[in-house]
Amino acid sequence: MNELSLLCGRANQPLAEEVARILGLEPCTAAVETFADKEIRVHVQQTVRGKSVFIVQPTSPPVNDHLMELLLLVDALRRASAGMICAVVPYFGYARQDRKKRGRVPISARLVANLMETAGVDRVLTVELHAGQIQGFFNVPMDHLRTDRLFAEHLVTRHPDWMDALTVVSPDLGGVWRARRLAKELRTPMAIVEKHREDSDREAPESMQVIGDVRDRDVLIVDDILSTGSTLCRAAEALADAGARRLLAACTHGVFAGAALDILQASPLHKVLVTDTIHHEQGLAHPKVEMISVAPLLADAIRRIHCCKSVSDLLVRS
Ligand code: R5P
Repeated sequence: MNELSLLCGRANQPLAEEVARILGLEPCTAAVETFADKEIRVHVQQTVRGKSVFIVQPTSPPVNDHLMELLLLVDALRRASAGMICAVVPYFGYARQDRKKRGRVPISARLVANLMETAGVDRVLTVELHAGQIQGFFNVPMDHLRTDRLFAEHLVTRHPDWMDALTVVSPDLGGVWRARRLAKELRTPMAIVEKHREDSDREAPESMQVIGDVRDRDVLIVDDILSTGSTLCRAAEALADAGARRLLAACTHGVFAGAALDILQASPLHKVLVTDTIHHEQGLAHPKVEMISVAPLLADAIRRIHCCKSVSDLLVRS
């Protein structure tokens, strides 16, 4: 078996270091320089010849910089004769551009997959993709870890008081399958917030309709990404109007773009659970935000991949 090596990109060093600590590894280091013209240069500082190298690098904001850094690191490893290269991309940027919603637009998620393969990845490990079909954009194996069990265990052990009258809610129709999975895990009812525009004009105001009974229930809104916070907070307001009691949320990827933290502060949301797939200092320290680490899950998956053991046990049931 090849020697296991973990390389930390710059995108989420605390997560990469925690994964390395759990695996009992000294991370392999790469010097990354940014020049005045914003080009970057990478230099892997230890030999990787014949090793199985796992690069931890979410393609989180600044997405293009982190993606390019990942591609350059993969190229450097391939040219340095690494035995196997696995891109560990806990947050997969561009995932929301996964199909042509109208004419003359790219399928950016597919292009990103092509770029990673061209650079030389042998496999990819990721967490809670916006759409599972993105796995099919790769010709190399992709292991897709889910966070529903992580959230469920956290809720049951840390917040048993939230469980008495809880309803899991999807903030849009596209995420119903995700909410259903967590509702099943927690054995709670579920509801849906449906957004729609009366007018097909993209500028027309959206109305929010709550499908299901949330009156006097605590609600847990489940989503993959918290970016500007608009989806979450508008869903929370609609649920409050429909009579929900305590408003909670669980979003895997805390992007916290733009004014998201202010929007969150002003919202009726009581608490938002996120994971550390993205390193966002202010977001993770926000009083309404509670962080759950994916490091043990990633370390377990890396160990299994390296030992050619099943990763299925870490994946969703059914
Ligand atoms: C959309 O389909 C996603 O699942 C999220 O609901 C969305 O990306 C969240 O973005 P924002 O926080 O900007 O509303």
